Amino acid sequence: MKAYTSVTAIAHPNIALVKYWGKRDEHLILPMADSLSMTLNIFPTTTTVHLTPGRTTDRVLIDGTPADDEAHRRITEFLDLIRSRTGRRDRAQVETSNTVPVGAGLASSAAGFAALALAAATAYEADLDATALSRLARRGSGSACRSIFGGFVQWHAGQPDHPDPDRGSYAEQLNDIHLDLALIAVLLATGRKPVSSREAMNRTVTTSPLFTDWLATTRDDVPAMHAALKDADLARVGFIAERNAMGMHATMESATPPVIYRTPASHQLLEHVRAMRRRGEQTWATMDAGPNVKVLCPPAAAPRIAAELAAVSGRPTAIARPGPAAALTSESC
Ligand code: DP6
Repeated sequence: MKAYTSVTAIAHPNIALVKYWGKRDEHLILPMADSLSMTLNIFPTTTTVHLTPGRTTDRVLIDGTPADDEAHRRITEFLDLIRSRTGRRDRAQVETSNTVPVGAGLASSAAGFAALALAAATAYEADLDATALSRLARRGSGSACRSIFGGFVQWHAGQPDHPDPDRGSYAEQLNDIHLDLALIAVLLATGRKPVSSREAMNRTVTTSPLFTDWLATTRDDVPAMHAALKDADLARVGFIAERNAMGMHATMESATPPVIYRTPASHQLLEHVRAMRRRGEQTWATMDAGPNVKVLCPPAAAPRIAAELAAVSGRPTAIARPGPAAALTSESC
């Protein structure tokens, strides 16, 4: 095997159609339930891992700026995990460039840790297949495990009594889906969210009285969503996705203290999506840990629907389709 000193990888964000919200193990990042997502073909993150033997600390640059303490700590701990598995000690310089604002609920951490997992595993010669890479990416940020794969992806939570819980929880591409689906991201706000998704998730699990019921519904939603995708039943896909996402927000909003990501602009747009549906458009909304609204619709109608959403919100939109798996773009020795 070649010894690389510099490796670059690209990964795309994914948006869950059935959400991951709630961990059963904070350290290993094991979720309480399966989730199911679509990897996008827009907003990629590119990450270069450059090994720097002789240095005593890692250096992390995000969009050209040194990472803040929290991001630096998460990335160093992630590299430590790979170093401990490979018996390597070299520090690294990590350079990440995003095409969307970080921390705005646009899944930048999913794309970021997927790209970092692939680039760092290659640089440190960890020799992992895609399933093992998804387990590794999960340790950086749970949803990142799904961005290792393209198209539609299921993250298996793993059995609570699995003898090796880390092994039991990984992502898998769903290869039996032929639905033509578009997702329109409406960029209502691109500032950093007030509460991180990690903190919000934990607070929801520990304090929301609605959480247990949402989780039970989510466990049913994953197989129902898979069946709807296989049947190319867009109305059913949209219905389950919207109900699951609105339910997730209800759990956060009923936490103590509440986590409110939905702004008046989010609610206005959610109502507009419902109004479009009443007049016969095929539009369903989903949202993540931020104020931005994503709209599922048929690809042929996407440009027209995106133009209407841009006009109503006065904000930019971007149309996504199912996107590719994480990939290496360059390796140098
Ligand atoms: C709302 O994967 O960012 O986007 O595992 O704590 O890093 P950590 O959380 P993260 O949470 C994503 C939550 C979500 C739903 C989803 O992507 O499934």
